[in-house]
Amino acid sequence: MDYVIETRSLTKKYGERAVVNQVSVHVKKGDIYGLIGKNGAGKTTLMRLILGLAVPSSGEVKLFGGERADLSRRKIGSLIEAPALFKSETALENMKRFALLAPTTDDEIKRLLEFVGLGDTGTKKAGAFSLGMKQRLGIAIALLGNPEILILDEPINGLDPAGIKEIRDTIMDLNAKGITFMISSHILDELGKIATNYGIMNDGILEEISAEELKKNCRSSLKVVTDDGERASDVLRAQFPELNFTVKDGVLEISSEVKDASLLNKSLVGAGVGVYELTNEKIEFEDYFIGRLGK
Ligand SMILES: Nc1ncnc2c1ncn2[C@@H]1O[C@H](COP(=O)(O)OP(=O)(O)OP(=O)(O)O)[C@@H](O)[C@H]1O
Ligand SMILES: [Mg+2]
Repeated sequence: MDYVIETRSLTKKYGERAVVNQVSVHVKKGDIYGLIGKNGAGKTTLMRLILGLAVPSSGEVKLFGGERADLSRRKIGSLIEAPALFKSETALENMKRFALLAPTTDDEIKRLLEFVGLGDTGTKKAGAFSLGMKQRLGIAIALLGNPEILILDEPINGLDPAGIKEIRDTIMDLNAKGITFMISSHILDELGKIATNYGIMNDGILEEISAEELKKNCRSSLKVVTDDGERASDVLRAQFPELNFTVKDGVLEISSEVKDASLLNKSLVGAGVGVYELTNEKIEFEDYFIGRLGK
């Protein structure tokens, strides 16, 4: 398998402490790779190592299957922590400054500003932009030079729900055009809507999981509270032999998928079992991660 970003046993130590510890990242072309972790987990440091902004203590970073780093890094745009904007300049002026590093036509700059929804900010200075506007300008700057990969560090941190949606839509649009993403966040739910893969980071250590695997781990179960657990079990075994369940103190926990809970309810009631409660116990995305992160 060819990865566009791959790290092998990547480690960064500050003093004795490994803030990135033997990390192996695997990002494929087209992925939206969500890097998730609490404050201080090592997300920014990992991104800086990938971008060549920090030097590893050991291990390696392999980009685009092993191209020379100086060539491959040109194909990566990034926004690390807050964008470093020139506050007293407009969006267009900011873009032009950063475009010096990646020669771009005026038309292209205008197209990028329109794309991130800043096409009509005119003479308004970047210092007066909302947080969301600043982030979007940061993304437009990261897009200069037509990158194949965007590495965004907490692009939705501090945004209101509308701002979050705008950034998410922008990411989805760009991904549909073939751009690969690595995005860090501690707002798990927001990455949950877009990520294809995850790297869960905790105290410098990274664990990878695909969105599919995650979904399996977040599978829901059905809880049925009855007045007669034994009789309820008999009914289930006879009429729904495909279901996996446990029973304790009259409470059934059904772990397989139940397509029609009302049918199940009818069968139980029809057999004389009193059903007090029927609830879908969903292991939420956040609960899953909190379980992992707190490990
Ligand atoms: N230049 C540095 N010198 C010493 N320690 C550092 C340096 N940079 C980062 N660290 C430490 O490394 C650890 C990981 O920091 P990092 O910024 O990578 O975490 P993070 O996951 O991005 O956190 P946050 O969610 O707060 O942005 C922290 O404990 C931090 O204090
Ligand atoms: Mg950080």
